[in-house]
Amino acid sequence: MIIANIEDLRRLARRRLPRALFDFIDGGAQDEVTLRANVDDFHRLALLPRVLTDVSKRDQSVTVMGRSLDIPLILSPTGLPGMLWPNGALEASQAADKAGAGFCLSSMSTSTIEDVSDRVGRPIWFQLYVMRDRGLSRALIERAKAAGCSALLLTVDLAMQGQRDRDVHNGLTLPPTFRASNLLDFALHPGWVWRYLNGPQVTLANLVGATGGKDDLFTIAGFVNSQFDQSITWKDIEWAKSIWGGPLALKGILDPEDAKLAVQHGVDAVIVSNHGGRQLDGVRSAIAALPDVVDAVDGKVEVLLDGGVRRGTDILKALSLGAKACMIGRPFLYGLASMGGPGVTRALQIFRNEIDVALALMGRSSVRELDRSAVAWASS
Ligand code: FNR
Repeated sequence: MIIANIEDLRRLARRRLPRALFDFIDGGAQDEVTLRANVDDFHRLALLPRVLTDVSKRDQSVTVMGRSLDIPLILSPTGLPGMLWPNGALEASQAADKAGAGFCLSSMSTSTIEDVSDRVGRPIWFQLYVMRDRGLSRALIERAKAAGCSALLLTVDLAMQGQRDRDVHNGLTLPPTFRASNLLDFALHPGWVWRYLNGPQVTLANLVGATGGKDDLFTIAGFVNSQFDQSITWKDIEWAKSIWGGPLALKGILDPEDAKLAVQHGVDAVIVSNHGGRQLDGVRSAIAALPDVVDAVDGKVEVLLDGGVRRGTDILKALSLGAKACMIGRPFLYGLASMGGPGVTRALQIFRNEIDVALALMGRSSVRELDRSAVAWASS
């Protein structure tokens, strides 16, 4: 199969993964209105190219939270990458490192903070849900610090898990409800089954030992589910910041007032995100929410865009509206599920090439030249 773009990687992932797993990464909450809007709203933005500007040299590098990246992309934190490919987080982080992109490890990852940090040159970021057990949250922050992570991301849009109907239909619930159709689905994907059985045991590696009981995936996943804390407030952000003491970002900001509060509480960056349409369905797309957040923070902190990025032109649009860089979740997961690390490398190459062509055709020689004069909402 010829891979020309991210959608091709998605099709390949759909073929190679059992249905329940493909739906787990591809799906969103409820009617998936926000999931679709994240992608579709990029199409409502028109690019405004300039000509005759000498674009013979082009530069994609950006600096995010004090670290330079060769391309304006960071791989978003995603749970359970080891279900898609053996050592999925290690493979993805190494591919990001080689491509000069950033990598953020999820606290729900299948590899430990230490393992991933040890195997890459560029320091990784670590993402945390502040959990009910503050001792455990503190321990994870301290581990990230000791491992040399360069930024801490606190995800703040998951007071509890959103309702993802595809997962319910597929029996991907806690506890899982396996049916004959699941078994058939897995039997039809022998490549995945072979890799899964021959790979390391998949579990939430950073939480091993946390339950005080068994460390298998379903026990820890059940424990995590009981750990999402609906009582978190800005005080907890201050608490995490005081333990961490380094660059801190909040992921899941959509409202300009929250963005202002984030500035007041001393964060270094806000990530405009609706969790890839996996949490509250019906909220604005990330790209639609971006300009208001950029205006609200008024240059005091960095703003990143997360959600719906599928093309290099999407990245140019987000940067034009004031994002410092973009984060991608599914695009790299489609690559990982299709081919492991080389699939992530392929996804990043696709973005790099698409950004390069788009920059030249936009008449800009650096992504840092992009500003609001480069885009217009198609309806206006
Ligand atoms: C996620 N996301 C996520 N976010 C987070 O902060 N911690 C996590 O553990 C996870 N886990 C996770 C698993 C899977 C399978 C997906 C698809 C997503 C959300 C992720 O970080 C990011 O916000 C979205 O994926 C961005 O949208 P796109 O790029 O997938 O459209």
